[in-house]
Amino acid sequence: MIHLDNVFYSLVHGGQPLPILRDISLSVARGEVAGLLGPSGSGKSTLLALLAGVERPTAGRIQVNGAWLNNLSADALARFRRQHVGIVFQDFHLVPTLTAWENVALPLDLAGLPESRPRAMAMLEQVGLAHRTTHRPAELSGGEQQRVAIARAFVTRPALILADEPTGNLDQDTSRHIIDLLFSCAGQWGSTLFLVTHDPQLAHRADHRFHLVDGRLEASAPCG
Ligand SMILES: Nc1ncnc2c1ncn2[C@@H]1O[C@H](COP(=O)(O)OP(=O)(O)OP(=O)(O)O)[C@@H](O)[C@H]1O
Ligand SMILES: [Mg+2]
Repeated sequence: MIHLDNVFYSLVHGGQPLPILRDISLSVARGEVAGLLGPSGSGKSTLLALLAGVERPTAGRIQVNGAWLNNLSADALARFRRQHVGIVFQDFHLVPTLTAWENVALPLDLAGLPESRPRAMAMLEQVGLAHRTTHRPAELSGGEQQRVAIARAFVTRPALILADEPTGNLDQDTSRHIIDLLFSCAGQWGSTLFLVTHDPQLAHRADHRFHLVDGRLEASAPCG
């Protein structure tokens, strides 16, 4: 489902090359959960950006859901992302002017898929927000906003869900519910889940743990 072969990513900063990710190789099978751990600045969000096809590697190649991303044009990458990838951020990234219902319908509309309104409504019911469909993000709690973001990420039934510290802004109780929701949605639709987290307990629930330190992968251990 996910293959990275000797992936490097560098930026140019102050006229000098700045290596961010160095020689990353990893694989995750379809339907598995991978936890990505590492200190602040180690390159976790950058690795998610590469998997989403938002950034391109400086060297090496990346395969997601059967497609080698290196071979895709910018347009094809954007299409690939709309069809196959759902993203959940720490700070929700909902469109502030749209209602919960409209936020969840948006990816379906952008992908030109039919029945966006009833499908978005069904997703909101699934995440327990049938009573908040006409609320805008500012009228929702943090946990509710993240539920909307999860509904939006899963509504197109993407093969891959990327989550960047999805509980980083939530209290412990809410975090547990959000993680349970992510795992149950991924399980229900067979999505592969690639999760950045600082929470060792959460990482322990994953099938694989990857540890980034200064842009390098330290270890990859299957967990029982
Ligand atoms: N545009 C940029 N110019 C220069 N350096 C950058 C730029 N964007 C990111 N970096 C650097 O890349 C490194 C990796 O950043 P990244 O956001 O991937 O880290 P992270 O592991 O997600 O950290 P955190 O846990 O704090 O979210 C950081 O050291 C950051 O300073
Ligand atoms: Mg980050």
